Amino acid sequence: MRNAVITGWGKCVPPAVLSNADLETVTETSDEWIVTRTGIRERRISHVETSDMAAVAGLRALATAGLEPDDIDLILVATCTPDRLIPSTAAIVQDKIGAGRAAAMDLNAACSGFIFGLVTARQMIGAGGFERVLLIGAEKLHYFLDFTDRSTSVLFGDGAGAVVLEGSDEDAGVRSFELGTDGSVADILCVPRSGTEGAPGPDRRMVVHMEGAEVFRRAVAAMGDASTRVIEEAGLELDDIDLLIPHQANIRIIEATARRLRLHPSKVFVNIASYGNTSAATIPIALTEAIDEGRITPGSNIVFAAFGGGLTWAAAVYRWGSRIEPLGSSDADLPPSDASGLELMQPNIDLYGMGVQ
Ligand code: ACO
Repeated sequence: MRNAVITGWGKCVPPAVLSNADLETVTETSDEWIVTRTGIRERRISHVETSDMAAVAGLRALATAGLEPDDIDLILVATCTPDRLIPSTAAIVQDKIGAGRAAAMDLNAACSGFIFGLVTARQMIGAGGFERVLLIGAEKLHYFLDFTDRSTSVLFGDGAGAVVLEGSDEDAGVRSFELGTDGSVADILCVPRSGTEGAPGPDRRMVVHMEGAEVFRRAVAAMGDASTRVIEEAGLELDDIDLLIPHQANIRIIEATARRLRLHPSKVFVNIASYGNTSAATIPIALTEAIDEGRITPGSNIVFAAFGGGLTWAAAVYRWGSRIEPLGSSDADLPPSDASGLELMQPNIDLYGMGVQ
């Protein structure tokens, strides 16, 4: 099968910061609790829609690949917080970036969405018919948060990351992967009444519900075990792994996963302190930052690992190609905004703070 190689990468995080100190003003929590239990210090709150962040990340990824929007055959947007149910966020992105030749569709595997998308893109390129795929992970999670619920509101943030995958004869790309789902425990991490099961009405509550401790337990096992299996399937030893880029949900989950793998902390990429959990966007944002920081070099063996609502889990071994330098840069950006994180989340406080059920 033809290899599919990442040739472009980019991220877009909105400017408004919501700090732990900000959260202390709206719910009974503390910076100390959040930092020690999750590793999160602040997160970003978007003043625009999911597709706006996705489009900017996508244009930045295209520029590093030296491509134009018209070069793209397929746009995949991994998201569980779409602008609308119809059309797909990918269709909106297609229009916003002017990629008129591309087919476009969304993919929802919650926080595992980027790896599900990576494998989908790789299979579609490998099977033929698609040469260049723009894969974006983008989320506006704050829209689905009750900021008076301290058990969920401190965890999530907004942002987007993107990669371009191209068909290639280079000895690079996804070496092995595992995608999994256990729908029997879907209710431990979900947004109830956010689709056809919800009664229509102006006060319908659509917020993240999570049984944190149970998700935590399953996450460590699923990410660690799936990573072990894909490393073995790729014919690699632990020493061959240069970098683990895990889904950024909780520093304790990341550290426990690394311990389970017996991977030295220096080989684990962590940026959760700055962004919190941005679901499908955490891995492409982290990948972009890892490249910018020189943590990836030609031929690096990278392990991606994630878990999320579904429950879903995913892991993949990816061998980086020969090019690490961007071929170009983009001046694409979000419209400016002076609004603070607290100001942007005020509508949620107004709604859910009144006990809307
Ligand atoms: N501030 C202060 N206290 C808090 C907070 C908070 N923000 N949240 C919970 N607490 C309290 C609880 O009420 C509890 O108090 P009690 O002992 O008086 O009852 C105490 O802290 C301990 O609560 P736990 O839920 O047991 O805390 P835990 O150590 O499990 O941490 C957390 C909770 C951070 C949610 C953790 O379980 C976790 O990270 N779970 C996984 C979440 C996750 O990764 N989700 C990702 C998937 S998201 C997706 O797919 C879209």
